[in-house]
Amino acid sequence: MVLRDGISLSVAVEDAVVLLELLADHGIPVDAPCGGAGTCGKCVVQVTGAGAPDAVERALLPPERLAAGERLACRLLAVPGLMVTVATARGGADHKAELGAPAPAAAGAAAFSPVADAPLRRRRVELPPPSLDDSAADLERLLRHAGCGAHRLSLAALRALPALLRASEYRVDVFEAVEGADEPSATLLAVAPAGAPGAVESPGPWGVAVDLGTTTVAAYLLDLGTGHAVDVHAELNRQADLGADVLSRIAHAREAGVAGLQRRAVTQLEAMMQLLAERNGLEAADILGLTVAGNTTMLHVLLGLDPAGIGAAPFVPVTTGARAFWASEVGLPLHPAALVRTLPAASAYIGADTVAAVLAAGIDEGDGLSLLVDLGTNGEIVLGSASGLSACSTAAGPAFEGARIRCGVGGVQGAVAAFAISAEGVPVATTIGGAPAVGLCGAGLLDLVAALLEAGIVDGGGRLLPEGELPDGVPDAMRGRCREVDGRPAFVVVPAAEARDGAPIVLTERDVRELQFAKAAVAAGIDALLAAAGVRLESVERVILTGGFGAFLDPRSAVRVGLLPAVLGPRTEALANAAGVGAVMAATSRAHARRCDAIAARLRVVELSASAAFAQAYVEHLGFAPLRGLAAP
Ligand code: FES
Repeated sequence: MVLRDGISLSVAVEDAVVLLELLADHGIPVDAPCGGAGTCGKCVVQVTGAGAPDAVERALLPPERLAAGERLACRLLAVPGLMVTVATARGGADHKAELGAPAPAAAGAAAFSPVADAPLRRRRVELPPPSLDDSAADLERLLRHAGCGAHRLSLAALRALPALLRASEYRVDVFEAVEGADEPSATLLAVAPAGAPGAVESPGPWGVAVDLGTTTVAAYLLDLGTGHAVDVHAELNRQADLGADVLSRIAHAREAGVAGLQRRAVTQLEAMMQLLAERNGLEAADILGLTVAGNTTMLHVLLGLDPAGIGAAPFVPVTTGARAFWASEVGLPLHPAALVRTLPAASAYIGADTVAAVLAAGIDEGDGLSLLVDLGTNGEIVLGSASGLSACSTAAGPAFEGARIRCGVGGVQGAVAAFAISAEGVPVATTIGGAPAVGLCGAGLLDLVAALLEAGIVDGGGRLLPEGELPDGVPDAMRGRCREVDGRPAFVVVPAAEARDGAPIVLTERDVRELQFAKAAVAAGIDALLAAAGVRLESVERVILTGGFGAFLDPRSAVRVGLLPAVLGPRTEALANAAGVGAVMAATSRAHARRCDAIAARLRVVELSASAAFAQAYVEHLGFAPLRGLAAP
């Protein structure tokens, strides 16, 4: 039996199955950044009725936590009689406040009218009743008066049409898709009685835009009548137990087929859309369209396409173009006329999420040179302007997502997202939503290491100094936070008494090392991209940092740790979840959807995997010392 949020669920266990997988299969995701490899120690559940912990659990969980019934879900087999309690998923919270509810206007599209350009619209139509002089059939009469050239009504909708027309005295609302660029034509999708509850002043038609990330999935409920996102929900990707990153998901698909991953993706999207619909007084069947951005592998998984070609040279996906399929064919129970549209990608590793982020940042239309840096497990970097775009992808590792960081979490409620030392020398950690601290997200990690570098607690090589070696000027309050954890120097970010789970949130030397790997990969990627484009650093006019925690990023910290060159610091701005914002823009505007096609076609992909210059730059950027004579701020 599984207990979560006070709700219990009896789960039938037929074959021996790993608890982490069983929970994910039943829509109960558990934080599993290492993908079930038994290295992160994050998939903690409370159990009774289990056997003795194995060596991995004993290594990753202190004896007192094991004694209290805490175990790792990836190490336990689900057996009859096992009682499991799962804490509220850290990534399952409503992220409305963090992700914002982006309106296209907020993303640089103020001059554009989303209502006039929406791909789906709702219109009131009044038909003349039939007479002996005009005995046209019901459907043909409706199409003629609505000005629709075609229809996608289901047979069930057609069967219901005669009664609907007569009961509503021939006043109906039609829902139509507007298709084609130069001479758009309308296709009838659905009919509702005019003035039906919630029908007229109301909103709609309804759509959903999704950013299907490897680690986090964000879904935006869209009122396509106004072009605005009215609600948003984000949670951890439920495929995490089948692989922490894109390559391990591809490996899973190669061994076990893509169907299991696809089922997870579809089940998760269905649940998220159900939640958004219910929260807004709708049903999932009211949703007339779904637009999805994501990396190329995630879009393959959603469509059930074999991603094997993405995993090995020469890195060939099944498709990179914008595609549309019936929602029912994908397995999503939306409106019968609903299509699932995937945004276009540029290549196997420059995905539709990057294309959407470029759209949101508007760098494809500016005259000046811009640099977009998307901080995730793969750091995608785009350089360009209206006259050209180039991009590369660097394997930054999962540090920015909170994985492989001892107390790391994604950008969720309670994540430490900012850290500073006050004028009095007191450490101040700020959490997302002001909630009790649950861990350290990527933005908090950058801030923290930057502050510790300034204070002299971390040296240029990334060493956390033991208390006896701290320089004289370190304030007492900071000095008191320098402790030993597992026999190595560590820094207490949030003391146990202030943390949600009653355990201190600490930074270890290994965490600093992970950040060094991640920031070196991004910094070297920037170097390589500038070199490939023949562009000098000083020519870059604008830098946009984005990622799941983008809104919380402090560009000064990015510069201080060496992720960005100092000269770019004052030109840097943070943009929260640019891929999600871009997906909303493409879902609400045909012009923006076409711009995605143009961006994907124009992006020149710079391959770094065999680049000796990239490898050398990576090594140079591993340290924290100022590089190439550029002064730290
Ligand atoms: S240790 Fe279980 S998922 Fe990482």
